[in-house]
Amino acid sequence: MALLIRNADIVTVGARVRADIFAENETITRIGDNLEAPANAEIIDAAGKLVFPGFIDPHVHIYLPFMATFAKDTHETASIAALIGGTTTYIEMCCPNRNDDALEGYQFWKSKAEGKSACDYAFHMSVTKFVKETDSQLRQVVADGTASFKIFLAYKNFFGVDDGEMYQTLELAKRLGVIVTAHCENAELVARLQQKLLAEGKTGPEWHEPSRPESVEAEGTGRFATFLENTAATGYVVHLSCEKALQAALAAKSRGVKIHVESVIPHFLLDKSYAERPGVEGMKHVMSPPLRAKHNQTALWNALALGTIDTVGTDHCPFDTEQKLLGKDSFVNIPNGIPGIEDRVNLMYTHGVKRGRLDLDRFVDAASTRAAKLFGLFPRKGTIAVGSDADLVVYDTNYRGVVSAKSQHVNNDYNGFEGMEIEGRPSVVTVRGKVQVRDGKFIGERGRGRMLKREPAHF
Ligand code: URP
Ligand code: ZN
Ligand code: ZN
Repeated sequence: MALLIRNADIVTVGARVRADIFAENETITRIGDNLEAPANAEIIDAAGKLVFPGFIDPHVHIYLPFMATFAKDTHETASIAALIGGTTTYIEMCCPNRNDDALEGYQFWKSKAEGKSACDYAFHMSVTKFVKETDSQLRQVVADGTASFKIFLAYKNFFGVDDGEMYQTLELAKRLGVIVTAHCENAELVARLQQKLLAEGKTGPEWHEPSRPESVEAEGTGRFATFLENTAATGYVVHLSCEKALQAALAAKSRGVKIHVESVIPHFLLDKSYAERPGVEGMKHVMSPPLRAKHNQTALWNALALGTIDTVGTDHCPFDTEQKLLGKDSFVNIPNGIPGIEDRVNLMYTHGVKRGRLDLDRFVDAASTRAAKLFGLFPRKGTIAVGSDADLVVYDTNYRGVVSAKSQHVNNDYNGFEGMEIEGRPSVVTVRGKVQVRDGKFIGERGRGRMLKREPAHF
């Protein structure tokens, strides 16, 4: 299989070059002017369009038993939605809960993706308890190519770890050179505040945010940073939502703590008024950490532009209207999560680059390259270079549209970003040299995706 992209305006971190790109056997083999291609090559003219490295979503949930139900997507539906939106690789959180065997969980999560995903994928391995077999089980997971862990400081008695377990996980991660991603909210405070609010008769979705205030996230972020500082491990805060938590992470960074920060697209564009909408409309916007007061968005965009927020993911986690209604009598039962895998890149491009908040370089870095570097995928993924996988996004900056559940491919009956403008979308998306998407339609090979094996990189 050969692919030639002519007249490409190639955007990578630190460079913008006009050239042709030739790929053979899944890999980019030549970049240059007026390249020749064999007669059987697929030829794409990218004149007038930008060409980006395939985008990487570093935080998604596809198979997820959670809050008395299951997230709605399968790897078939999620990967097609991802590709249509320009994401060619995602990293799924493998989340066995505290009662599950970690290794069995890992094999089960892998089996859900194998042969099903149309794009490439990897896993972060959640550590939801630390018992006598954990050390050896995690070593097996890392040897299998899953070189990142996940811990939850929230979700007491389900995914959540205590401080002792966090310490043991970080110590092992340091020894193995594995980065540890963390959901940072103080579980005890969340549980206490939930009970207090319910006792006061405050049951609607608008009380979700007050049950997990900014200070609760800032405490979790600060505590995670302190544990990193004392174990010398490398950490990555997932879905950071507010300025207070950002300050905790930045204070640690300035002390030399190896801490990286992800935020997710809902926190840049949606605020807590969405979750304050009456009834199920509010429930559709319940996630954790919660949507925050609007002023936080300025802080997040500024930190993203500076690069102190490293990456933008989605925390893609779709629950439909019926599932959200599990929480109709109490906000603590609303399944937490919102879809985003299909819209992240277009929303970031439109509301970041087009609105002047982000330059193109940082956009590519935050949506692709930085995740590839942090999670051991670079330079195979996250750039356009000879030797890299031919994951390419030919991007049409003249496209105009709106986000809508009516046209989405994610398996859900609503879209949290409904009605938002899009000024640009992928015109062609390739995975290892094969065209998978053209102009909003999946035209490729289902099940083409492969699990990406990664080496530890954070010793
Ligand atoms: O609300 C969220 N974020 N749901 C998914 C689970 C998690 O915390 O990442
Ligand atoms: Zn989380
Ligand atoms: Zn998540």
